[in-house]
Formats: sequence, C-alpha cells, structure tokens
Amino acid sequence: MCGIVGYVGCKEAQPILVNCLKRLEYRGYDSCGLALLGDGLQVYKDAVRIGELEKVLPPNGGRVGIGHTRWATHGRPSKVNAHPHVDCRGELAVVHNGIISNFLALRERLVSEGHHFSSETDTEVLPHLIEKYYRGNLEEAVRRALQDVEGSYAIAVIHRKNNGELIAARHESPLLIGLGDGENFLASDAPALVEYTDRVVYLEDGDLVVMHGEGLKISNQGREVVRKEHHLEWTAKDVGKAGYEHFMLKEIHEQPGVIEEMVGECVSTIEPAVNLEVSIDRTVDGILLLACGTSYYAAMVGQQVLEEVARLPVRVELASEFSYSRTVVGRTLAIAISQSGETADTNRALKKARELGCRTMAITNVRDSTVTRIAEQSFYTKAGPEISVAATKSFTAQLIAFYLIALSLAEVDAGTFRRLTQELRLLPSKVQRVLDSEKVIAGYGRRLSGYESVFYVARGISYPVALEGALKIKEIAYIHAEGYAAGELKHGPFALLREKFPVVALIFRDDTYEAMLSTIKEIKARESPVLALAEEGDQEIAKYVDYVLPLPQTDRLFAPVVTSVALQLLAYFAARSRGCPIDTPRNLAKSVTVE
Ligand code: M6R
Repeated sequence: MCGIVGYVGCKEAQPILVNCLKRLEYRGYDSCGLALLGDGLQVYKDAVRIGELEKVLPPNGGRVGIGHTRWATHGRPSKVNAHPHVDCRGELAVVHNGIISNFLALRERLVSEGHHFSSETDTEVLPHLIEKYYRGNLEEAVRRALQDVEGSYAIAVIHRKNNGELIAARHESPLLIGLGDGENFLASDAPALVEYTDRVVYLEDGDLVVMHGEGLKISNQGREVVRKEHHLEWTAKDVGKAGYEHFMLKEIHEQPGVIEEMVGECVSTIEPAVNLEVSIDRTVDGILLLACGTSYYAAMVGQQVLEEVARLPVRVELASEFSYSRTVVGRTLAIAISQSGETADTNRALKKARELGCRTMAITNVRDSTVTRIAEQSFYTKAGPEISVAATKSFTAQLIAFYLIALSLAEVDAGTFRRLTQELRLLPSKVQRVLDSEKVIAGYGRRLSGYESVFYVARGISYPVALEGALKIKEIAYIHAEGYAAGELKHGPFALLREKFPVVALIFRDDTYEAMLSTIKEIKARESPVLALAEEGDQEIAKYVDYVLPLPQTDRLFAPVVTSVALQLLAYFAARSRGCPIDTPRNLAKSVTVE
C-alpha cells in the first residue's frame, strides 16, 4: 500500500509533488509528507490528507523532492509515523512503499550502534542504514543498505549533500519513472504522472536508479541496464472528475463506453468470432481463478460463464486463502484477476499456482503491473484509470473479459454463439438505460441510507452480484450488508429479519425465478421491507415486494452486468445521503499491496 513520488528538474518541486500525491491518494491516505532539497533538507508531514498538508506548506523553491501518501501497516497513522523518514542528523530522507520484513532485527542492530529512532515504522531502518553506509556517494550507500534489507520496497531517497540527485529502487513494489525535458519524475503508479509526461519507464525488481534533471542511470546487481520506454495511454482527462462530484460516479457512468470498446475490439462484425490477444490452451484439464474482493466476485461470475459457454471445469479460490491450501492441481490454467495487478495476496497465489506447475494468466487493468510479470500472458481490461477506491467499471470490465474468454473457447452451437455475441453488443445500451434511471435509484439509495443493516439475496449467476452489491454499500456507505444465496437465509440469517432490516432481492425470470419468489415471500412474512431488482415486464413481482426497480432484459448470462451497475448507483446514493467520503472510504486503499 502507500504511494511514493519524486521529482528532480528545473521547476519548483513542491507543487508538482503535491499534485502527483493527490493522484495517488487511492493507494492510501491516512497521512502524507514531502521532503525537499532547497536550502538544506526540509521535511513536511502530518496525519492529514495531502489537500490539508498543502494548505500549511511554506513556499519552498527546491527543485528536488520526494513525497508519500500512506496506508498504515507498521505503526498507527500519526505525524511521526508519516513518511518521509530521516536519519539521525536530518540530512537524508526516504519514502517507502512495501514492507521491510527484517526491520526488527535491523532496528535492534542500528540502535546498538547508536542510531535514534523516532517512529514505529519498518521504513525508518532505511534512512539509518543509508546514513551508516554514506561516505559522500548516495547511490553506493543506498545499494549497500539494500543488501541488508529483506522484504518488498519501492523507495526514493534524497540527501542534503547530493542536491540535484534522487536515488530510487524497487523490489516487489511498483515504481515507474516519468521522462521529461530537463526533468524526471518518479511514481508508484502512472496516474500520478499523466499531467506531466506520457513517456515512462517501468522499473524491474532489483533496479536502482540515479536520477538527475538531465538524465538517469539504471543499474541492476551493479550492472548498468536499459529499460524500455513506454507511451502512456492514459491522459490527464482520464484521471480527472470530468464535472462529476465524485470519481465513483464518473466511473460508473463510463461503463457503457468501456464495454463498447472491449467488445468492439474482440468481437468480429464480419464473421462469428471472438479474437483475443491472449491464446488459451483449450486442452487444459481445468481453470483455477484466483482473486480478492470485487475481483473475486467477478471470478465467481466468470466461473459460471466459462463452465456454461466453454464447458471447462472451473474452480474459484480466494487468493488470500490459496496460499494456505494444500490444493491439488492437474494440468490447470491459473488466472489471477486483479484490477490493479498489485494485490499482494493475488500475486502470491499466482506465484504458488506457477510453482505447482499451472500455466498462468492475468486479467488486469494496469499494464506492466506486478501480476503481469508473474503471469505468462495477460488479458488487459480496457476500463481506463479507476481512481475511486470502490471498484465499479473495473468490475464490469472483468465480467466482459470473462464473456470474451468464454466465447473465444465456446463449445456451443452456432446459433447460441451468434445470440450471445449479439447480446454482448447490446450491453452498452442496456447499461446506459440503467444509468438513465439514476434518479429513481437515488431515491432507493436515500431510503437505504437510513438503515444500519441490509441483506442482498439472489440465486444462480446473480448470487456473486449480491455479494458484490453488499460489499459496495458496506465499503462506501458504512452500512452493514451481507450477500446471501437466497436459499441460505433459512439456515440462520432469517433470525435477523424484521421491519428494520431491509432486503435487496435480485430476481430474474430464469430457472431460479420460482425459488426466488418463495424466498421473497418468506422474507416478507418476517416483515422486512424488500426492494426487488427485476426484469422490465415482470408483472408478478410487484405483488410480493415493497419496491421494484425494473432493469432491462438481457440474456441470463449477462444479467450480472446490468444488475451490478444498478447496485453501484444504489450504494453510491446511500453513501452520498450519509455524507460519506465516497472516493476514499475510511481504512481502505485501492491497491492492497500487503498480505
Ligand atoms: O486490484 P484488485 O482487483 O486485485 O483488488 C482487489 C480488492 O482489493 C478490490 O476489489 C476491493 O475489494 C475493492 N475496493 C472493492 O470495491
């Protein structure tokens, strides 16, 4: 977790670093800080958001600086634990994303050697180690210090005596360099840099960089290396709010465009075919899907789609649990699903699958993210940058990825194939119709905001959508919510139902309809208010529930897309009524880079 940034060049560093940090706040925002080389080394930090710190920053003409936005792992969110961290003399400063796993032993050793620590963080061992090895050459001191360190890191270091220079290094935490004219930038993720440059270099594990305004040198294991320059596809417009009050609302509204682009690129309009950049070996015995959070729910939908359309056996595992399982895999294709590509649990699970002999693939929204370095091949969803912590368009894009993969491996007759691809092409307009009913959904959201708990229930392919709907409202509106397979309610959760406990029911006229109706009747008998998300034209449902939100009809397989967009809006408006910080919910961060 955490985001780091750096600047060295011909301009004033402070406003650039502040701006870059604002773009990285989705990685954590419980405290932040800057270190600048102007008249000596100045450090400004506090347990506030960057927008707050900005208000109290004194002018600083320094042209070299580093910055950090934190999601606490070691040490509570506080001013002393905020980065940058400095050495005993306050001459050098370090920002760090990752975890130094041997920090306790290093700290003990450094303390016994006379170093003074002021924070509870693992990071603070770094400035003291660098101080210990510093003899005027900062690059060498950092290189030597990192030899003592175990764990993961992306770091940036500056030193009072080396003005005009910034040293950076990475090992298992993302880091990229932005190339400018007479200036260079550093960031944990591309959205931080899009306003300044579209030329970037992604660093590899073990890379150590010496950056100046006029150039940079990358080395790995002491040998100079050249890393390929990439062109950023995302622009400043993509990372702005485009007039929306929140990134989340903007991202929800971008979904028809995302689907259209993904489907348009892969589904041929000339012949009935789906063409992907990845090539999947159909002769594997089965597919293993690994993911966390919202991506896990996308995988649960993906499982059903792949099994039904591609007729392949599919298992879904929570990546955070997979590491501990004594699982047996055959000739399996393991697919990690991760919007950010940086989720530590997911990456670790994929590594384990690789070690077990699985073929590997990633479905991710971020090019060159860590997961793409673990997987043999990657399917890129085209959702564009997602800034709000709550996943919305990236979830839909993952669902579309599964439809496309399943159709590319389809074991269905030509008529079914044509019907499914046609239906896929119609999805953007159906999602747009859900967005058009925003005002109605906002009303239901406001109503829900008055409750403390809510159940989301569904059956079949909509069950994972119920789980995702519950996660969304929990995450951004702080309403206790649980998703249930409708048939499970009677095995315990029924005990909670009463007038003050609403239920959101997802009901579609497929083979689950009658069973869902029975559940709804049972719920109503316990006096819970019920909001049903049902298909347009379903005349029956209104007889049994309190409120109905009609949704466009679609093939059963694609219902999760339409429904989840409605549930995203429901959560969004509930959160807005409650005055929650929608894009940056408490205690969360977008990329969870710790296990
Ligand atoms: O980047 P990933 O898709 O790997 O992230 C996994 C989860 O952390 C993520 O989906 C999380 O649950 C979202 N904040 C939910 O909105």
